[in-house]
Amino acid sequence: MECSLKIIRTPQELQQTTQLLRREGKTIGFVPTMGFLHEGHLSLMRIARKKAHVLVASIFVNPTQFGPNEDLDAYPRDFKRDENLCCEEGVDILFYPTADTMYRTASSSWVDEEALSGVLCGAMRPGHFRGVCTVVAKLLNLVLPDFMVLGEKDAQQLRVLRRMVRDLNFPVEILSSSTVRESDGLAMSSRNSRLSSVERTEAVSLFQGLEKVKERFAAGERNAEVLKALIRETIEKTSGIIDYIEIIDNESLESFQTLETSALVALAVRFSDVRLIDNVVLES
Ligand code: PAJ
Repeated sequence: MECSLKIIRTPQELQQTTQLLRREGKTIGFVPTMGFLHEGHLSLMRIARKKAHVLVASIFVNPTQFGPNEDLDAYPRDFKRDENLCCEEGVDILFYPTADTMYRTASSSWVDEEALSGVLCGAMRPGHFRGVCTVVAKLLNLVLPDFMVLGEKDAQQLRVLRRMVRDLNFPVEILSSSTVRESDGLAMSSRNSRLSSVERTEAVSLFQGLEKVKERFAAGERNAEVLKALIRETIEKTSGIIDYIEIIDNESLESFQTLETSALVALAVRFSDVRLIDNVVLES
C-alpha cells in the first residue's frame, strides 16, 4: 500500500525526528500499542489523527511488563498487517523498535507507581505496572507528544499512567476512549486471536456478567458482594478461571462494601493460558 508512513526503528532517530517537529511547532499525537492491531487500537488512532499535525504510533511487545510465566513469546504479532492498517489510518511515524535498542545492556532505572498498581492486575502480575510505567515513560521521552490516547479497556493501566504523568510532571495530556467490542460484546483484544472456538464463545461471559451488574445497579442494588456474585455465576458456567472480580472506588481503587459515587467493576479471567480483562464504571 502506498502511503507516507515512516517506520523508525531506533530511539535515537525517533527523538531526533520529534525534536525537529516540535521546533517547527507541530502538534504531536501518540498512540502506544503492542501491535496485532484491531478496531480498538484504530479508534484511538482516529481520535489522535483528528487533533494532531503528526500522528505517531508505536508497536513494541514490551518484555518488562510480562512475568516469567506469561505469554511474551506467544503474544500475537503481524507487522506487515499492522503497517498496512497504520497506513490506512494516516499514521505519520510508526516506531517499531527491538527490545535490545529499547533496553540497553545494564539498564537499571525504573518507574514505579505505588498507590494504584498494587490491586487488580498489579496484584496478580507482580512487576507488570513497573514495566508499563517504565516503557511509557521512555516512549514519552522519545515521542515528545502533546497528547497520548489510551483505551478505557485497560482501566487500571489508564489510571496508573495518569498518576505517573501527574506525579512526574510529564508535559503530556492523556485522552481516553471507550472500549470497542465485537458484535456479541466481547472487548476487542489482540489476545482474543489465541482463544479456541469454544473459548471464544465462552469469552463473551465477561461482558454478560458486567451487563448483569449494570442492570442490577440501575435497579438499585448497591451491595458489592451481591453484584460480584452475579459476575461469578456467569463466568462459572464456562471453562474460564477467575483471576479476580473487583468492585472498587473509581478514584482510589480501594475496595468498599456499599457502592459510593463512582465505582469501577473490573475482572480478569483466564481461558487456558489466555488472560482476558474487562471493566465498566458505575456512576450513582
Ligand atoms: P495494547 O494492549 O496493545 O493496547 C494499546 C492501547 O489500546 C491501550 O491504550 C489499550 O487500552 C487500547 N485498547 C486495547 N483494546 C482496546 C479496545 N477493545 N477498545 C479500546 N481501546 C483498546 O496496553 C498496551 O498495549 C501496553 O501496555 C502499552 C500501553 C502499549 C505499553 O506497553
